Amino acid sequence: MKLCIIGSGYVGLVSGACFAEVGHNVICVDNNQAKVDMLLSGKIPIYEPGLEELIHKNVAAKRLHFTTSTEDGVDGSEAVFIAVPTPPQSDGSVDLSYIEKVAREIAVVLKAGEYRVIVDKSTVPVRTGEKVAETIRRYNKTGAEFDVVSNPEFLREGCAVPDLMKPDRIVIGGNSEKAIALMQKVYEPFMAPVLVTDINSAELIKHAANSFLALKISYINAVAQICEASGADVEKVADGIGSDKRIGRNFLNAGIGYGGSCFPKDIAAFIAISDDLGVPFTLLKEVEKINATQRERFLGKIRAALWVLQEKKIAVWGLTFKPDTDDVRSSVAVDVVRDLIAEGADVTVFDPKGMEKAAEHKLVEGAKYAASPLEAAQDAEALVIATEWRDFEAVDLEDLKKVMHTPLIFDGRNLLDPETVRAAGLTYTSIGRA
Ligand code: UGA
Repeated sequence: MKLCIIGSGYVGLVSGACFAEVGHNVICVDNNQAKVDMLLSGKIPIYEPGLEELIHKNVAAKRLHFTTSTEDGVDGSEAVFIAVPTPPQSDGSVDLSYIEKVAREIAVVLKAGEYRVIVDKSTVPVRTGEKVAETIRRYNKTGAEFDVVSNPEFLREGCAVPDLMKPDRIVIGGNSEKAIALMQKVYEPFMAPVLVTDINSAELIKHAANSFLALKISYINAVAQICEASGADVEKVADGIGSDKRIGRNFLNAGIGYGGSCFPKDIAAFIAISDDLGVPFTLLKEVEKINATQRERFLGKIRAALWVLQEKKIAVWGLTFKPDTDDVRSSVAVDVVRDLIAEGADVTVFDPKGMEKAAEHKLVEGAKYAASPLEAAQDAEALVIATEWRDFEAVDLEDLKKVMHTPLIFDGRNLLDPETVRAAGLTYTSIGRA
């Protein structure tokens, strides 16, 4: 099938590559000329394991194309996916201006006599599909036949390619049988369970899913606080409750809180949406509060150990919001570095993939960048682990102890094993365990 994807960010680009991989002919549209030029020259604007190979392979097979022209993209495409950003506004509500603009752009190039399915893949508030359909109807002068479908994306950064190639489920929300049948054909090669719903339910599934996952994280973080107060071990508690199949162990990893470009924004959005609908979702406000508390409590532990942070040499391992990505947007690790700098600490950071983007966007001004974990830890009076990269687990603890001035470790992601670290003669503090 010929498919068009508008927006070449994480969701758009990975979806485009995976659709091409299963045999569709895909054209990716982005209004950023520099990004399209980059893609055309074989360079990939984001780091995502396996993505580069997938793009190169499918470009070579002539199944994956890039352009800045919406008209060229929509021309001949049976389904047109919208995968543009839906950033937060200052009150937490969603800025839908990119979606609205793309809807108008599609409207003016839709031709009479050609049926098209317009698919919303961006995360949007419930009832956005209705607005997209209304907008296209208003701006299309040819009376073109089209349907709008909601098809939320559940991929995680860092494992976006496998998530997309082997999804737990595919949600197709539509109010027209013709559109749903076409979407089923698009997804047939993925051989995954398909859940068909109305548009509003599909849109709601996305916000409800992300909010539930964030709730799980805040739940275990609140339990971690109780573990700290009572001498219990949150890892064991998480294993114990997580082995109940109804609960599940995933997303029960305590730490300094969730971050990234999805959870903080989507939880705030769902709160704003529910407020708007007159059914305030107060539980989610608590989820946000617990998340913010985790970082505060962690900094409190560092302060308690170092007394004054001013002029203290502190190493921070990790800048990205999670491992296996170069994404530093809304990263709790970045916030921790900023907090330490704001208190006058002399901070040196190392991250395997995130330093370039952090430097480009000047996210941790005042911090020094190191070329390796051990270089960052050289002469440090404390080491903070802010992202659970596997590379950090591999660092030799004897070497670490040798290079540090005082071997105090603050593990904000429970990456290391307390007994092993202490046996190597380092002082170790983590989350929710003694
Ligand atoms: C999240 C969802 O998991 C995806 O299903 C969804 O498609 C995506 O948002 C989106 O809406 O686009 P993502 O933000 O890439 O994916 O990353 P996650 O793996 O969910 O991690 C989010 C944050 O939660 C990270 O900061 C991570 O460190 C934190 N986290 C995760 C924990 O603190 N504990 C956990 O147990 C799991």
